[in-house]
Amino acid sequence: MESTRRLMEMLIFSALLLVEAAHCSQGQFAHKLLNDLMENYSSALRPVDDTDKSLNVTLQVTLSQIKDMDERNQVLIAYLWIRQTWHDAHLKWSKEEYDGLEVIRIPSSLVWRPDLVLYNKADDDFSGPVDTNVVLRYNGEITWDTPAITKSSCVVDVSYFPFDSQQCNLTFGSWTYNGNQVDIAMGMDSGDLSDFVENVEWECHGMPATKNVIMYGCCSDPYPDITYTLLLQRRSSFYIFNLLLPCFLISFLAPLGFYLPADSGEKVSLGVTVLLALTVFQMMVAESMPPSENVPLIGKYYIATMTMVTASTALTIFIMNIHFCGAEAKPVPYWAKVLIIDYMSKIFFVYEVGESCASPFGQMEESESFHGQNHKKKLHPKEKAKGAPPTCCPDDDKSAAFTLTFDPCVYCGCRGSSGILSCDPKLVRNVEYIASCFREQKATCLKVAEWKKVAKVMDRIFMWIFFIMVFLMSILIIGKAP
Ligand SMILES: *[C@@H]1O[C@H](CO)[C@@H](O)[C@H](O)[C@H]1NC(C)=O
Ligand SMILES: *[C@@H]1O[C@H](CO)[C@@H](O)[C@H](O)[C@H]1NC(C)=O
Ligand SMILES: *[C@@H]1O[C@H](CO)[C@@H](O)[C@H](O)[C@H]1NC(C)=O
Repeated sequence: MESTRRLMEMLIFSALLLVEAAHCSQGQFAHKLLNDLMENYSSALRPVDDTDKSLNVTLQVTLSQIKDMDERNQVLIAYLWIRQTWHDAHLKWSKEEYDGLEVIRIPSSLVWRPDLVLYNKADDDFSGPVDTNVVLRYNGEITWDTPAITKSSCVVDVSYFPFDSQQCNLTFGSWTYNGNQVDIAMGMDSGDLSDFVENVEWECHGMPATKNVIMYGCCSDPYPDITYTLLLQRRSSFYIFNLLLPCFLISFLAPLGFYLPADSGEKVSLGVTVLLALTVFQMMVAESMPPSENVPLIGKYYIATMTMVTASTALTIFIMNIHFCGAEAKPVPYWAKVLIIDYMSKIFFVYEVGESCASPFGQMEESESFHGQNHKKKLHPKEKAKGAPPTCCPDDDKSAAFTLTFDPCVYCGCRGSSGILSCDPKLVRNVEYIASCFREQKATCLKVAEWKKVAKVMDRIFMWIFFIMVFLMSILIIGKAP
């Protein structure tokens, strides 16, 4: 029992030692292998046995992150992992000679590397490739993974901003070798998105790859490249909440300017304030967009809204003029009376709100009439105290035969004690004059009221027209959203 256990322990111990020794020898073999491989190796020359044959490089790009999309400068900054695989004819060994060593990892600067570059690079940094290790297999296969932050130029078409989608090309190709020397192949038919970190602004809809072979006119050599097309769709909710909704809300205020009573004196300033607010938003958008010819959708919407607000403000000014048509103005033309006051006001539900002349003048008309035949010659001008009933002829104890109310005065005709009308022609003339004054004033007031009513009806018409316009424009812009 004891002995077998001892034997077992010894066996395990010796086995462990062997493993250790093997490790040791593998380290030595790796050292020897590297020396042997590098003895006559030059990293400057294309490693092929037959120089007429092309060297095949397989390219695989993994998109890790979209760091930034600069619409204004038309630059896409992306974080990529680039894997290149090729066969080096001079870096082969037989596993048996080196104790079964299959793979070694050596600095990439020691071996020949294909000079694949991003053609549409938009970077001012022209430093060389990153010196990461390469994985070298015994059959000469080299796998080289490099991380890269690429700045690539990308034609950004913002016509449909913020509902736009973009296509950004990443074109890789050899800088100096032509297709007969170094040929590029695609690892997969699209970029790898399995490790993609979602971007807050852009949704990635794939990254298909295509191989293009370009024959330049001068030389008949083909120049292959691989183009990855990054399909991006903008997440528009941020812009909807920050740029579109405020504009909707503000633009709905503009038609309400027509509803504002003219006497408040705020009609024009409301329009101008709305215009200013829209300008701020428009500038915000304009700052982030490239100054290109195709105006973004949202810019068009702003321009349309601003045009509308400008028109509404201008119209408000005209209507204000109509509203304040004074006594000097001509009376409202008959057709306008029929069309606007009679029909339109009913269509647009414009009702009188206590601004008619009927109430104060109606009373006056009654009191204006003469009662009986006994009138005193004198007419007392008297200040009319607001609210208090007109005190008539305080000097005389008699009741008033008639009163004339001239804002702000009350004229009273009082019955004399004698009860006999001493009809003075002068008095009659004066009374007639006063009466005609009243009539004139009443007519003027009616005229003013009519113009005001015309203005009000027009205000209401334009309010609805502009409401419909704002609504239609909003529908139009939402309709463009996918
Ligand atoms: C390297 O080159 C030398 C001289 O040209 C030659 O003697 C030697 O055998 C070569 N070594 C290998 C591993 O090919
Ligand atoms: C490269 O690939 C092409 C076909 O794609 C093949 O004909 C050629 O032999 C390959 N070259 C080498 C060196 O393997
Ligand atoms: C991007 O590459 C694809 C495929 O090569 C090509 O059809 C397309 O025109 C390119 N787009 C731009 C903007 O260059």
